[in-house]
Amino acid sequence: METRAPYETGTDLLSPNRNLSPISTELDENGRLMVGGCRLSELADHYGTPLYVLDEATLRQSCFAYRQAFERHYPGKFLTVYASKANSSLMMSCLISSEGFGLDVVSAGELITGLEGGVSGDRILLHGNNKSDQELILAYKNNVTIVIDNQHDIDRLSELIPSELPPVNIMLRFTPGIECHTHEYIRTGHLDSKFGFDPEQLENIFRQLRSCKWAKLIGIHAHIGSQIFELGPHQDLVPVMADAMLMARKFGHPVQDLNIGGGLGIRYVHSDDPPSIESWVKVISEAVISAFRSRNMPLPRLLCEPGRSLVATAGVTLYRVGARKNIPGIRTYLSLDGGMSDNPRPITYQSLYTACLADRPLVKPEERVTLAGKHCESGDVIIKEIDLPYASTGEILVVFSTGAYNSSMSSNYNRIPRPATVLVQAGHAEVVQRREQPEEILRYDLLPERFKELK
Ligand code: LLP
Repeated sequence: METRAPYETGTDLLSPNRNLSPISTELDENGRLMVGGCRLSELADHYGTPLYVLDEATLRQSCFAYRQAFERHYPGKFLTVYASKANSSLMMSCLISSEGFGLDVVSAGELITGLEGGVSGDRILLHGNNKSDQELILAYKNNVTIVIDNQHDIDRLSELIPSELPPVNIMLRFTPGIECHTHEYIRTGHLDSKFGFDPEQLENIFRQLRSCKWAKLIGIHAHIGSQIFELGPHQDLVPVMADAMLMARKFGHPVQDLNIGGGLGIRYVHSDDPPSIESWVKVISEAVISAFRSRNMPLPRLLCEPGRSLVATAGVTLYRVGARKNIPGIRTYLSLDGGMSDNPRPITYQSLYTACLADRPLVKPEERVTLAGKHCESGDVIIKEIDLPYASTGEILVVFSTGAYNSSMSSNYNRIPRPATVLVQAGHAEVVQRREQPEEILRYDLLPERFKELK
């Protein structure tokens, strides 16, 4: 049986993406888990469960790690742009902006959350393979850079922006022929991706954009995948992008930005071993310096778009243990008071997670259990097999590395309200997203007049 304590392993205070738990994780005098100076079981009692907890120290250290790595390894200008799809809220927008970062958004909702949180429009990038007119106009009015994904974007903007108005800054996204399957990658000429232009289309698009008065092409973008543990794919991506920038310049476009996308992996289970933020930035910086020198081009402003590696390990989710079902010789199910509506990643991607009991993290495991969610779906399992001490009903269970793509992908399946998020720091806890109430679940339902008599 697994006997390692989750919060002890892989501790890398400089690169939080390499840890299983927030960097401020510690034990109190009775051996109970604390994060951000707050006892987790106390947070659960006070704010209810399921509960997302975000550690400010980890968030800020992750930002610092990106900033410091660029300062150390890249002599040109740079901008780290947080991919807000990983975890979007007013607090996250405000924190990211206070760290001097930009924001990547893919919808009007994420865009408004960025602007309201204080991120200035000229530091926001709007992505998306099917942007609505409303999203394009909102972006234009707020001086947001629009990442052109396909011909439809060009056609819509040509119609929406009158030629007498100032142009909009745009970047061009293309599919570079480098595909990552998390632990391995392939290079192909064409990729089956809904995002971005095919490399063969670039020349025509650069030609076409020359006559678009509404457009100022300032950069080239590519994003090759997520939860990547290898450094090679991004290293190989750089010369492909440098060639695309060279071509854009030959067509007279003032391109200065090379946007390498996101993708750096994080640790979900003990066996995950992602590179540090510093080594990721270093490899990319060195590749950019070498590719641009060999092409006699000035260094670009280097942009990257980390999502997961900035927030995942800052977050934990707290659940209360409920029902127990033992099927002799097969398995024991422990049911939690949340599940696939607050963490759809296991059922969607078969993602693995690490967990322990909040007040007894070091107690020796006594049984192998399956942690099941409470939704009406057999596949609603948070962890399929985990060794734990015998957990009683009512005990608090902590699942680690849930800061990215959990809250942001949560749903109301089975009409279950979304959990609250609390931000912890130096012994203070503050709600930054309040818990949905069961009555609020009804807020968009309307009953036709003629149905009212039937009630
Ligand atoms: N930039 C672009 C254009 C992206 O599409 C993404 C992620 C990122 C940046 C950030 O990538 P990251 O640094 O987080 O790997 N829901 C999935 C992940 C989907 C990622 C989509 N795009 C999950 O839960 O694993």
